Amino acid sequence: MRTELIKDIIGWDITNWSKSIDYWSQKTDIKDKNYNCLEIGAERGGLSLWLALNGNKVICTDYSYFDQPHILQKAKKLHSKYNSERKITYQPLSALEIPYDNYFDIIVFKSVLGGIGSCKIKDADQIVISQIYKALKPGGKLLFAENTQASLLHKYSRKFFIRWYKEWNYSKLKDIVKLFSEYKTLNYKTVGFLGTFGRNEKQRIFLGKIDSICDFLIPKSNRYIVIGVAEK
Ligand SMILES: C[S@@+](CC[C@H](N)C(=O)[O-])C[C@H]1O[C@@H](n2cnc3c(N)ncnc32)[C@H](O)[C@@H]1O
Repeated sequence: MRTELIKDIIGWDITNWSKSIDYWSQKTDIKDKNYNCLEIGAERGGLSLWLALNGNKVICTDYSYFDQPHILQKAKKLHSKYNSERKITYQPLSALEIPYDNYFDIIVFKSVLGGIGSCKIKDADQIVISQIYKALKPGGKLLFAENTQASLLHKYSRKFFIRWYKEWNYSKLKDIVKLFSEYKTLNYKTVGFLGTFGRNEKQRIFLGKIDSICDFLIPKSNRYIVIGVAEK
């Protein structure tokens, strides 16, 4: 894939987060299937773009689309850059209440659960994963990539350097895995350690390349991204 396209799909620490595309593609064939797909917490809709460019129908959704039309406009602009609007429709949607049953072949999200998990609602992240289960067809798949609590270094540096630290719930890997108990299967892997510490994307890309070489030295639960495929 061209770097510009990867940037448009992934957006941030692209070396590490783009490994989700490789992993999902290994586990699921989405090419030219005309699948019914849903992206949750899409913001600029990068994953909707990926699904549409691969010949699927996508509903691109985000909670912010209820009251922040400029964010929806950004998604539309990105999709029209690649002439993909034909394959994509848009909806404001809360992942806590997905108004579909047994409908989607594929649901995707990236970096969404932690933001919802920090809200006041008890077990919000479990509600989201169960709502997704309800909305998937039997045999349908959730493709996801999410931040984990990772190492002590990540935990403490976030406290000092990340502005939105208090608005995000960085769950432990084992707690994220537990959310999927009602699914038939869950396959996952973890990646990334240094990439998140870059102060700009150039630094993150450089550090992500070091991660790619050294990931095997880092214990799995200390890596900061979990990439998964869960089947209903
Ligand atoms: C960190 S951003 C990630 C955006 C995009 N998925 C990405 O990876 O670039 C988190 C997104 O989750 C959305 N969000 C927050 N609460 C939500 C909810 N209850 N339902 C759906 N989306 C939500 C936010 O509006 C925001 O766009």
